[in-house]
Amino acid sequence: MTVNEPAAIEPSTWGPLGGPRTESGGAVDTAHRPWWRDAVVYEVYPRSFRDSDGDGEGDLDGIRAGLDHLQDLGVDALWIAPWFPSPMADGGYDVSDYCSIDPRYGSLEDAVALLAEAHARGIRVIIDMVANHTALDHPWFTAALAAPEGSPERERFVFRDGRGPDGNEPPNNWISAFGGPAWERTTNPDGTPGQWYLHTFAPEQPDLNWTNEHVRTDFDGILRFWFDRGVDGIRVDAAPAFFKTPGLPDADYGGDLRFRSGEWVGNPHWDVDDVHDIFKRWRRVAEEYDGDRVLVAEAVVASPERLARYLAPDEIHTAFNFEFLKVPWDVGLRRVIDETRETLAPVGATATWVLGSHDELRLTTRYGRVDSSSEVGVSPDIPSDLALGTRRVRAAALLMLALPGTAYIYQGDELGLPSVDDIPEDRLQDPIWERSGHTLRGRDACRVPLPWHGDEPPYGFSPDGAISQPWLPQPAGWGALTVEAQAADPGSTLDVHRWALHLRRELPAFRTDDFAWRESPAEVLDFQRGPHLRCVVNLSGEPITLDPEWDVLISSVPLDGPVLEHDAAAWLTPRTS
Ligand code: NOJ
Repeated sequence: MTVNEPAAIEPSTWGPLGGPRTESGGAVDTAHRPWWRDAVVYEVYPRSFRDSDGDGEGDLDGIRAGLDHLQDLGVDALWIAPWFPSPMADGGYDVSDYCSIDPRYGSLEDAVALLAEAHARGIRVIIDMVANHTALDHPWFTAALAAPEGSPERERFVFRDGRGPDGNEPPNNWISAFGGPAWERTTNPDGTPGQWYLHTFAPEQPDLNWTNEHVRTDFDGILRFWFDRGVDGIRVDAAPAFFKTPGLPDADYGGDLRFRSGEWVGNPHWDVDDVHDIFKRWRRVAEEYDGDRVLVAEAVVASPERLARYLAPDEIHTAFNFEFLKVPWDVGLRRVIDETRETLAPVGATATWVLGSHDELRLTTRYGRVDSSSEVGVSPDIPSDLALGTRRVRAAALLMLALPGTAYIYQGDELGLPSVDDIPEDRLQDPIWERSGHTLRGRDACRVPLPWHGDEPPYGFSPDGAISQPWLPQPAGWGALTVEAQAADPGSTLDVHRWALHLRRELPAFRTDDFAWRESPAEVLDFQRGPHLRCVVNLSGEPITLDPEWDVLISSVPLDGPVLEHDAAAWLTPRTS
């Protein structure tokens, strides 16, 4: 990487009036600009971030111990994946108590201390709210199972009689996201077969009934509980699943029994229009608080237009951009950037760029493949050129971080970690493995604990000497990928991220919505953010010559003169002399 010292940039002298200027020449709108519009958010998967007590699983004190790294990296906020008590049937997305912390992670006091410490460092915290479903041992569900059919307790969930003479068939044909039917039959206290309950995800995740006013009111209280403790935002898990078409009619899957949430139109259990009432209500709760508390939707839906509905001005503030996350490393990136911007403009929402998460193949592995489109699950049989993947990860970081809007970095992507696709089968934890009849390995490959220092597992994830392997085994050979090793290496993937984030904070262009493509060949992405910042990404497979009128602020690979090699990116600023 090459980089000019940001100190030389002197942002305050950029505009003739001493302030930043928009592309049209006008001064930047100084009206209130919520923090999240331009924030870089770092996803913490708590079980795999850092283990402070040596039990092989991450915890809240581990996150506190990692704040130095996150502050050095320069992120604005954390999104912490579910930290509530959970049987971990789906990695914490099965919640037993929404107002408490899983003992493996710590206590409520630890959470409050973490919030305070993060805030003291200028880092905000978004938590994950899993409100489409609970865990099997949530008191609401155990009460529902113990209560008779038609009782108020059962009304909190979606219980129905089965079809067929003995009720042996599920109530309808709906399928679950993790494979198989979306219904599970209960057993009555006397041992006879009982009603069925709906689970959009695993059977251990019974769906709540969001037409029930008690459910709605209770979640208003749960949101306030966390806002009162200082959380800055809520990620809304599985937002399109909350509402189901009344009467629960059969779905028309057209013979394709795969969960195609990104393609379904008119599906009775996904993206049903009435879902929006719920999030308008959540927005009103968020607005009871100062500090621009933010709602972030996880909403995989059939089209940008459907997504925009979640982002109406009185609803959810931002939503992950799954198109960007799934598109291959090729010219399709330009199309996705354009479509995103066109879709969001009418509702005035900001874009949210994401390249990885705890649900996806690691970016380094994906970008090293011949077909670099995303797919859930891992196949050890698909080869990946990790050197090429790493190169592209660095370029992609400069691309993503140069785009207007919010950017999300999944833990470990700043280190360029690859997927671990050879976890022994008896160590796999993701329910997808069991539910797919051992045909899909699931998402554990991207959840392997982070390497912090050292040359062998657990690489400082757990205290030295405490354990030999964490809850998901780490591979040999990660010594050069640790935080410590990369922090000391001026050409590392971590270093590119740090400098890019540093520049992003320094340069006023990043606090505007300015964006304009420059003329370029299709395989070269070239855009400006106002007059003083330009990003060039070379997807052509060949070296390209950089514009001599512009100086390089940062590049994803070392530059040899004004030449940008293949699969590389650079940020430029106009030459002044
Ligand atoms: C989306 C989460 O990211 C994923 O990990 C989880 O399995 C499902 N929602 C169900 O809660």
